[in-house]
Amino acid sequence: MVALELGTVVLLLAWVQAATITSNTMQPVRGIGASGAWWVNDLALFPAEVRQQVSDMLLNQTSDDGIGLTDYRYNLGGGGVGVKEWDRVHETPYLSDREYDWEADEAGTFFLREAARHGVPYITLFVNSAPPAFTTNGKSCGGNLKIDRILAFAQYIADVISYWKSEGVQITHVSPLNEPDNAFWACWQEGMAVYPIAQRGKVMLAVAKALEDAGLNTKVIGDESSMIWEVYGEAPLWLDREVGAVLDGIATHQYAFVNGRIRRNMVDLTKRLSGGTPGWATEVCCYKPSRESYANDPLSGISYGPYYDPTMVSGLRMAKFIFEALGEAGEEHWDWWLALSPQLGSCEPAEDPYCAEEIQHDGWDDGLIYYDPYYQDTKFYGLHLTKRYWVLRHFTKAAPAGAVVREVLMASKGPETKWRVIAFDYPERGTLYSIVAMNAQDTWSSLHLQGDDKFVFTTPKKVYCTHAEENWAEVDAVSLAADSSVDLHAPGLSIVTLFF
Ligand SMILES: *[C@@H]1O[C@H](CO)[C@@H](O)[C@H](O)[C@H]1NC(C)=O
Repeated sequence: MVALELGTVVLLLAWVQAATITSNTMQPVRGIGASGAWWVNDLALFPAEVRQQVSDMLLNQTSDDGIGLTDYRYNLGGGGVGVKEWDRVHETPYLSDREYDWEADEAGTFFLREAARHGVPYITLFVNSAPPAFTTNGKSCGGNLKIDRILAFAQYIADVISYWKSEGVQITHVSPLNEPDNAFWACWQEGMAVYPIAQRGKVMLAVAKALEDAGLNTKVIGDESSMIWEVYGEAPLWLDREVGAVLDGIATHQYAFVNGRIRRNMVDLTKRLSGGTPGWATEVCCYKPSRESYANDPLSGISYGPYYDPTMVSGLRMAKFIFEALGEAGEEHWDWWLALSPQLGSCEPAEDPYCAEEIQHDGWDDGLIYYDPYYQDTKFYGLHLTKRYWVLRHFTKAAPAGAVVREVLMASKGPETKWRVIAFDYPERGTLYSIVAMNAQDTWSSLHLQGDDKFVFTTPKKVYCTHAEENWAEVDAVSLAADSSVDLHAPGLSIVTLFF
């Protein structure tokens, strides 16, 4: 507010500044997760205590230095037939129809069991490719799902989930198709297309029916289309109210890197087609600044491609995806792609312990934690945590499963437009629990936080900040001004979480 004297009249002008935390609540948040594809094969060859340490870092819900994922995405393997990279092969329990080897995939199922042991609230089983007995080319990559085998495929999935239930592992969600728009014909990973497109809806219905017949309450999500353009073109061909009724979420990847408003249009479309099923953002990674001059600005343009950036810039780019999905597009769930990765490019951490802290133009931003790609020769088992790891902790802690997004009105001018703010209620609607605010400019900046006319701030109980120098560092609790507003002052390229 600024007081402006006009003759004898004093006018109070409210500038569209500050972030206003309103009393309006939005959609719930289910989980925030990452997947166990690929790296689990490498970790199976690591010393047992390192594997256990990784489990605690990812899945422990209460530890001080873990990220406590609230969703763990277990990759049910397709057997890897034809896949060129050994560590992207996931064993399958499938032997023949209704006959299984439950000892298969010790590498992946170790972390699945750990997710259950740690009480991770959401466990999603996802499928990159069915085993070769279900694909047109008899491989685990490059083919299409055999249409006359959809029922048998659905039975296979239900049998696997029943088995895990009998082992005490409750798989809450299953995603039977992953990027069915792409067969992954180059076979660098497992993958399977599903055409004609309408058959994707038949797969969802068949899996839901098989789960119900088996007495399971696991819910189905789909179809994990790679990009928004595919959703516009293809969702009308497979998604209708009948399919929507059996889906708990319409899962879509964020690889087109569109902004939150455009993504909201996509979510509105799939809600219309499905009769109201909420959107889930279930995968993103692997971005690089689209120009070299954008390298230090997390709000600038990005494109898909190799780039390893362990710094706050990439951490805040990831946070921006979360703001867009949960804060702008109204989605109920958010997942990163790989929890761990060896894609350090030219960096050989056994030779140079510092290179993992620097940008590598030939690595990939596909993981949260990194390890030596040459560990089999070097026997170097050190782990390197990127800033994405710490930034993700801000969200898993601020938005526990069941939190509700609260509407925030952002500043429309000045340096405050370079902040992003999201607020969550928990444990119930109407009780503000947390605010996550990121300062995306590389200088110190202040953000004025105020309530709307129906919401009055209380003093935050705890405040944590992650920036270049510190990870989840507790900072002095911010005090309330006389008018019950809060001024946040934070270093450049930082993320701050306030708990109330
Ligand atoms: C999680 O971490 C806490 C604190 O380090 C520890 O007390 C607890 O036993 C761990 N939980 C599990 C399931 O390992």
